Amino acid sequence: SETAHIRNFCIIAHIDHGKSTLADRLIQKAKLVDDRNFQNQILDNMDIERERGITIKSQAVTIPYTSKNGQNYELNFVDTPGHVDFTYEVSRAISSCEGALLLVDATQGVQAQTLSNMYLALEHNLEIIPVINKIDMAAADVESTKHQIEHDLGLDAEHALLVSAKQGIGIDELFEAIVERIPAPKGSSDKPLQALIFDCHYDPYRGVIVHLRVFEGRIKPGMKIRFMNNNAEYEVETVGVFKLALVEQPELRAGSVGYMIAGIKTVSDVRVGDTVTDAEHPCEKPLPGFKEVKPVVFSSIYPVDSNDYEELKDSLEKLKLNDASLVYEKDSSAALGFGFRCGFLGLLHLEVVQERLEREFDQSIIFTAPSVKYKIHLRNGEEIYVDNPTEYPDEGKIESAEEPYIRASIITPTTYLGAIMSLCTEKRGVQTNMTYLDEKRVELVYEMPLAEVLFDFYDKLKSISRGYASFDYDITGYKPTELVKLDILLNGKVVDALSQLVYKGNAYERARTICERLRDEIPRQQFKIPIQGAIGSQIIARETVNALRKDVLAKCYGGDITRKRKLLEKQKEGKKRMKMVGDVELPQNAFLAVLKSK
Ligand code: GTP
Repeated sequence: SETAHIRNFCIIAHIDHGKSTLADRLIQKAKLVDDRNFQNQILDNMDIERERGITIKSQAVTIPYTSKNGQNYELNFVDTPGHVDFTYEVSRAISSCEGALLLVDATQGVQAQTLSNMYLALEHNLEIIPVINKIDMAAADVESTKHQIEHDLGLDAEHALLVSAKQGIGIDELFEAIVERIPAPKGSSDKPLQALIFDCHYDPYRGVIVHLRVFEGRIKPGMKIRFMNNNAEYEVETVGVFKLALVEQPELRAGSVGYMIAGIKTVSDVRVGDTVTDAEHPCEKPLPGFKEVKPVVFSSIYPVDSNDYEELKDSLEKLKLNDASLVYEKDSSAALGFGFRCGFLGLLHLEVVQERLEREFDQSIIFTAPSVKYKIHLRNGEEIYVDNPTEYPDEGKIESAEEPYIRASIITPTTYLGAIMSLCTEKRGVQTNMTYLDEKRVELVYEMPLAEVLFDFYDKLKSISRGYASFDYDITGYKPTELVKLDILLNGKVVDALSQLVYKGNAYERARTICERLRDEIPRQQFKIPIQGAIGSQIIARETVNALRKDVLAKCYGGDITRKRKLLEKQKEGKKRMKMVGDVELPQNAFLAVLKSK
């Protein structure tokens, strides 16, 4: 059939098992860039990805491949992120593929996201090729990794590929396995167009660039297309494929992956998960699309300068094109003015959104303290959901409260079992299961409050297990809790944006930590600033930022004028990240810093 020479697959794995490195080798074999210009983790092209060494965005790429028997193939593949916060990126990538390379690090074995990503792939009936990576390392244990693939994943390990993505071992065999084992896409280019929008990005010169997987029909310049979600119509300007850069093509046909540009100015017309069809000969019904995202952490964003509200709105809209998991709505605060209440898939996701708004859109913003969504039963019989402390009802009106719980699954070498169990208990976890996967590895299952794992659980887990324990979770529902609203007062006034809803048993410690962090974060000013933590009218913690002793410039003894100017410049830079709250200057990261572990 016409699609016989196309293969669409994604690379999935637990974090750090080598997806991006393997993608590099595939790209290098295909000679998409010459070796002189090659840089490692070539698909991780966002600054944050390179700095943190992790993939945040799924990235599609098309490479040619000539098989041993001389057939020419078009391979479309997607490098996906491994961190739990970005599972939504993985699930969208999976919807545009027929196969998946499931990487397992031979020194680490099967980990929590190896399992969860495999289940995602199975849900979509993908052909899964297990690939054992890092076989070059001294600590590689191929035999036990094979055993885990059979035992934990239920996959046939006999046909697992042995690879070193770093040293390029086993790559030829892997290419052959891809074309032999992953099925060609179904579909016919003679049918009416039916294409899935799996991602987008915004280009200041070309407008919205829509990333598509064509399931049926074809799409080419001049054609009139329709977005099935809202019936908006546009004329296609160009189409093409991802070869690191955008490479124009005469058309995209059934089975292929690529992009479309259609002079789209109304950003909100485009929705990831929507189906694009031919306006003149529409297909009967849209493709299934994606599951709705369910944010788990909420926080408000405010522009540092209130005049930048409109610009922030525009930036969020454009960022959302490239991050379909971001949800937001209007919000306002007495201390901070107009802003947006946003939902995120985790704290790392929140940090990434903050950095992208700053770096890609040049926005100066502050985030308020993140919160989960609580369920509140009122005395009048009503039941409400609250994720914003400013909407928390008066104590007197509240009958009881519930908080979201998760089912946490932790895979760890037995050595760290004791320490991990204490950590989980400290985080109010209740063990519901414990299974020995083999002599050396255990899977622990805990019921835990989501609020406890959001903040520093993951970091702590990693540090007590020297990086060997892995963690995955599902939200299971609500359970009764005791909540209080913790207010923070600066200079005697409550700053609504710093208020938090916390579990009663944690309130004192939380209040103390926040006050200490704020004392460290808030720069000295001309006057003394008392920082207080309070529940209602009861003060439960207190710190003070002392007044400035002398002017910074005094240090320069008047002499060196360039040094003086530099200092002033630096102060100005600093100011851009400060928000005036009443008469106190609050640094932008004060809001997040209060929640991070030391
Ligand atoms: P995320 O996208 O963050 O989930 O990570 P990833 O799965 O893409 O892993 P990445 O390719 O970034 O590799 C993680 C680390 O493992 C890097 O330091 C790589 O250099 C290293 N690595 C990857 N493959 C191999 C391999 O075959 N051998 C060795 N020795 N190291 C490898």
